[in-house]
Amino acid sequence: MKIDRCYCFQVRFAELRRVAKATGAATVADLQAHRTFGHKCQLCHPYVRRMLRTGETCFSQIIEAADEPAAEPPDQRTP
Ligand code: FES
Repeated sequence: MKIDRCYCFQVRFAELRRVAKATGAATVADLQAHRTFGHKCQLCHPYVRRMLRTGETCFSQIIEAADEPAAEPPDQRTP
């Protein structure tokens, strides 16, 4: 099975990649300011983070939050 979109909102990762390139969005939250996705089950979030990091937009493996963790805010980083 290929995974290429936020299934709850039917937004393809390829569309989100275009938005990221056009706007400079670099996080899931940044992208959500421009497109409605990822507000229900949030299973797409690690895929979107992977897309932002690598440019991939179609996945055949399960990616969980632990596989592609969100960046920690600067004030919570450990030295
Ligand atoms: S798949 Fe994106 S919110 Fe459910």
